[in-house]
Amino acid sequence: METTLPFAERVNAVRGSRIREILKVTDRPGMISFAGGMPDPRLLPAPAIRAAADRVLTRDGEAALQYSISEGLYDLRAWIAERYRARFGLNVSPASILITNGSQQALDLIGKLFLEKNTPVYLERPSYLGAIQAFALYEPRFVGVGLHAAGTDTDDLRRSVQRNGPGLFYSVPNFQNPAGTTTDLAGRERIAALARTTGILPVEDDPYSELRFNGRDLPPIRALYPPTLLLGSFSKIVAPGMRLGWIVAGPEVMRRLVAVKQASDLHTNVFAQKVLLEFLREVDLERHIAGLRAAYGRNRDAMVDALRVFWPAVRFVVPEGGMFLWCELPPGASAEELATLALEANVALVPGGPFFIPGLGADAGDRFFRLNFSNSTVDEIKTGIRRLAALPLGVANERANNSILHV
Ligand SMILES: Cc1ncc(COP(=O)(O)O)c(C=O)c1O
Repeated sequence: METTLPFAERVNAVRGSRIREILKVTDRPGMISFAGGMPDPRLLPAPAIRAAADRVLTRDGEAALQYSISEGLYDLRAWIAERYRARFGLNVSPASILITNGSQQALDLIGKLFLEKNTPVYLERPSYLGAIQAFALYEPRFVGVGLHAAGTDTDDLRRSVQRNGPGLFYSVPNFQNPAGTTTDLAGRERIAALARTTGILPVEDDPYSELRFNGRDLPPIRALYPPTLLLGSFSKIVAPGMRLGWIVAGPEVMRRLVAVKQASDLHTNVFAQKVLLEFLREVDLERHIAGLRAAYGRNRDAMVDALRVFWPAVRFVVPEGGMFLWCELPPGASAEELATLALEANVALVPGGPFFIPGLGADAGDRFFRLNFSNSTVDEIKTGIRRLAALPLGVANERANNSILHV
């Protein structure tokens, strides 16, 4: 007998992630996966984490397994604050940091706190799929904003805000997922000025800035406009499975965030926080991060070279860091078709459609696809790109000339 279950209306707005679907088949033997956003498993510091866990349990015993405070471990928050000071001269107090279950939870908590039905949410075109998913649950009005090779198209953002009014502006200013772009200093200054004059609230999602291969660090938008909500994560520099991230916010937002976090899960796994802190104190972190940068930088170069040699019809912006290349197909080709053919040839990638706001831009998205370069070896990258270039896509092998991203 068919029963009608009383699902809330809002869950209709949430789609399952296309990436998670593709990831289900990536453990097939012989598969080369450019699909997920995963760190190289060989660079996950398992022995050091095991040693840290041992020390935590030996030293703290039961205290490491007890309930804890919702804000997160004070010493871990102090460590994060000190790193902002050291990297950017940014003054952030431990009290303005909330430890979250990955930065993904930070996005959900921000949605809960700020989004009513139809609140404008400005998102770059394309944008991080997980943010679209997290915010969609609160039924906002998504407004797409253009993206250049130099980051957010701030003229487009200004015009959109004039038309649609204040709301959240979500951005990944460093090595954007999926587009690989970085918003330059002038762009960050324009975003700060716009926020000051229009009342939009920037949500600055920054899981990748430590993974810079070339060029110089740029100040966070929060350094230019302090009300900005700044998100960070240990997923890309330590281990995503530990699910540890954070939000930086002022006292008023923080008080409410803590209440919303309590309602959600009381607090983030305190054992994981203690193990991470122990790891951060004992390991030579600069050396660890330098190792990640060197390895992923090598992989990026290998992917860029392989595309230029084997598949010159594809266009892309060369990212200065992060984990992704965003590629544009020649005119007439379909990224969905590419993804399907690629899987048959044992290569996984993500077609561009899902990175655009539901109902808006999915067609444009079908000209693009995302390649991850952090989870494969240089040899796998070369082989995978060769396989992709050889696929029988139904197009002339010519370059696109009217790109959304001006590469
Ligand atoms: C832009 C962006 N934000 C947030 C996340 C989620 O990261 P976390 O593992 O910290 O939840 C990711 C993960 O890929 C991401 O790319």
